[in-house]
Amino acid sequence: MSDMQLRQLTSLFPLLAIGLAQQSTITNPILPGFHPDPSCIYVPEWNNTFFCTTSTFNWFPGLPVYASRDLLHWKHVSNALSRPEQLPYLGYINRGQSGIYAPTLRYHDGVFTIITTLANQALPRENLTRWDNIIFNTKDPYGEWDDPIHYYGPGIDPSPFWDENGVAWVTSTFNSSGVVHAPVNLTTGEVTLPFKWLWIGTGGAAPEAAHVYKKDDWYYVLLAEGGTREKHMVTMARSRSLHGPYEGSPDNPLLTAYNNTESYFQAVGHVDLFQDGKGQWWAAGLTVRAGGEYAKDPYHANFPMGHETFLVPVEWPEGEFPNFTNVSGTISGDFHLPQPSGPETVPEQGPGQLVDADDEVDFEPGSQIPPHFLHWRIPHTDNYKVSPEGHENTLALRSSMLNLTGYDGDSTLGRGQTFISRRQSHSLFKFNVEVDWKDSLVRDSEELGIAIMQDQSQHFDIGIVLLSSTEPKNQTSGIIWQIPPTESGYINETTSLEPNGPPKPYIRFGGIGITGFRRPEQTIWVEEVTELPKDFSAGPAGTKDEELRVFWYTRGDLLVPIYSGTTVGAYATSNGRYGEGAFETYISKWRYIGIEQVIEESKQ
Ligand SMILES: *[C@@H]1O[C@H](CO)[C@@H](O)[C@H](O)[C@H]1NC(C)=O
Ligand SMILES: *[C@@H]1O[C@H](CO)[C@@H](O)[C@H](O)[C@H]1NC(C)=O
Ligand SMILES: *[C@@H]1O[C@H](CO)[C@@H](O)[C@H](O)[C@H]1NC(C)=O
Ligand SMILES: *[C@@H]1O[C@H](CO)[C@@H](O)[C@H](O)[C@H]1NC(C)=O
Ligand SMILES: *[C@@H]1O[C@H](CO)[C@@H](O)[C@H](O)[C@H]1NC(C)=O
Ligand SMILES: *[C@@H]1O[C@H](CO)[C@@H](O)[C@H](O)[C@H]1NC(C)=O
Ligand SMILES: *[C@@H]1O[C@H](CO)[C@@H](O)[C@H](O)[C@H]1NC(C)=O
Ligand SMILES: *[C@@H]1O[C@H](CO)[C@@H](O)[C@H](O)[C@H]1NC(C)=O
Ligand SMILES: *[C@@H]1O[C@H](CO)[C@@H](O)[C@H](O)[C@H]1NC(C)=O
Ligand SMILES: *[C@@H]1O[C@H](CO)[C@@H](O)[C@H](O)[C@H]1NC(C)=O
Repeated sequence: MSDMQLRQLTSLFPLLAIGLAQQSTITNPILPGFHPDPSCIYVPEWNNTFFCTTSTFNWFPGLPVYASRDLLHWKHVSNALSRPEQLPYLGYINRGQSGIYAPTLRYHDGVFTIITTLANQALPRENLTRWDNIIFNTKDPYGEWDDPIHYYGPGIDPSPFWDENGVAWVTSTFNSSGVVHAPVNLTTGEVTLPFKWLWIGTGGAAPEAAHVYKKDDWYYVLLAEGGTREKHMVTMARSRSLHGPYEGSPDNPLLTAYNNTESYFQAVGHVDLFQDGKGQWWAAGLTVRAGGEYAKDPYHANFPMGHETFLVPVEWPEGEFPNFTNVSGTISGDFHLPQPSGPETVPEQGPGQLVDADDEVDFEPGSQIPPHFLHWRIPHTDNYKVSPEGHENTLALRSSMLNLTGYDGDSTLGRGQTFISRRQSHSLFKFNVEVDWKDSLVRDSEELGIAIMQDQSQHFDIGIVLLSSTEPKNQTSGIIWQIPPTESGYINETTSLEPNGPPKPYIRFGGIGITGFRRPEQTIWVEEVTELPKDFSAGPAGTKDEELRVFWYTRGDLLVPIYSGTTVGAYATSNGRYGEGAFETYISKWRYIGIEQVIEESKQ
């Protein structure tokens, strides 16, 4: 059990002590770190278990599935996208903020379904292949999911609603102009065209994440509007017929943090509703921990935890629109949690760990790479080997030619970037891993290290690199946007001569960041090199760890998690030279320790 869960439990005691036995408490975010766009369900048939999934954009494996019975302890139990062959095209998607968009998770007739979109923002809006809509099914949420079924549909954020004949009407939010729906056969992908308009929303920007629910003889459409930043909000409309016309609630928006600059939890929206076995309604949705400044200027705000998942209780009186609780770090009230909370309620099945658990991974012989470890795009799986012979209890990394920036900052065209990571799940954390560079790095530019990464245009790396010269590279602002891919789509393997003199090891702190929303002219490149001291370790500042000295700082607002969040992990690259697999190296003793979860704005 991790620090955060401990605090969630202990925070119950003061309340009980003063006699408010009816009160319940939940602590947000329930899925901390990179967990945008949640969709959650309650499945009585599966031992009264709640399941959630979230967006993963270009990360692999994708679409993590979390299970809980108390709504407080969430265990990672599978990844719907777990095999490169399920979606090879993910490796070729161009723009950094493309990839797997908001999924919807549902259970119907013994089948779990995740329906989502592989978005390719590089294609024009008129081209519907920009939105590759896909369906993942499984009969066992703790096991492997089927290969995705592709269907022809416009827009993003699909969500099924089953009518009384068992027909799944799939909503999509289309071209920023409202909600459409059509019947889709979720086992064949067959669509009954055309998609018909349901509701245009209340006029907020970018209507998305629509879900349809039926309650008390009303059909409700739930929507996110205002864009996924400071004006993000939840709106609803209802109709007596599934096909409309829908009429908006007079109280819209029903939930938002906009104008609530007191709240540390901003960008609230993109919710899904579900009801537990006791009849209590809940909303899971997207938020960022950013504080009031975010409302004024989200593009320069500091919220390195990215898009996270909150949970709030919802009152939904008969015949009325639901009444959401505002989002905050600690929510206490006279709502009822589904059952007494405790780690013993965590499902036994499934390979993963609690969503915010620490890592103590030793890559023992016969073990697997843990299911919560992440690669940027589709990995070249033979670049990662657990405990190869002669290097037991290590993870062998075969270097990639591409470094984490890649050659244009935004695509890899199918090439791998050797990087293995996990989500940053805590505001303050410590990550360390042992690296073996002495026997691995031989030639100029060969490099291995650790990085905190949001995407190819936003990451900071601290590595050991062999360099023949430390002349600063002529990296100018915006350069990553200007190098076009070669005609063949691949950079030619360089045959450059070995430079004169043996290269020496340096510690290099390097990285790239953007202040402002994907504005190339605001790209900042940093690069600092220091001769490698004899003994060293690298870690976060301010942890009072005597062994650590501060090399460099980076500002959190240079890692703007536009839609996603950050991961931390290890990389190995030859920085564009010598071909793929130029060297092999071994990492071991992988440790991630969550130190603190900040859930309110500091008042200093
Ligand atoms: C979607 O919107 C874009 C931009 O406004 C427009 O060019 C395009 O024609 C629209 N597509 C459809 C199918 O309506
Ligand atoms: C849409 O994009 C795909 C992929 O680039 C391309 O093959 C196709 O020709 C485009 N279709 C239209 C109508 O432009
Ligand atoms: C989906 O298609 C399959 C195969 O054609 C069919 O057996 C099934 O009944 C269809 N499902 C629905 C809900 O129509
Ligand atoms: C937020 O404040 C602005 C400016 O005062 C106002 O126009 C808007 O309606 C408010 N939005 C909400 C959701 O309260
Ligand atoms: C939620 O916060 C808003 C301010 O943004 C406030 O007007 C509203 O009363 C709050 N709702 C509840 C139920 O506390
Ligand atoms: C919504 O809930 C809040 C907090 O329980 C309550 O003060 C408010 O009156 C409710 N609003 C409606 C419309 O029921
Ligand atoms: C169901 O959940 C309970 C804990 O809530 C656990 O003790 C039990 O083993 C579970 N049963 C199955 C079949 O998973
Ligand atoms: C290096 O960058 C400067 C702009 O900062 C530019 O004027 C110069 O031409 C560049 N040199 C090379 C070799 O690209
Ligand atoms: C890459 O190599 C091919 C064949 O070896 C050659 O035709 C092409 O010009 C090279 N491209 C670049 C950008 O060097
Ligand atoms: C990253 O790799 C590219 C080639 O893919 C290279 O041009 C660039 O210099 C490398 N970055 C560093 C810091 O070495």
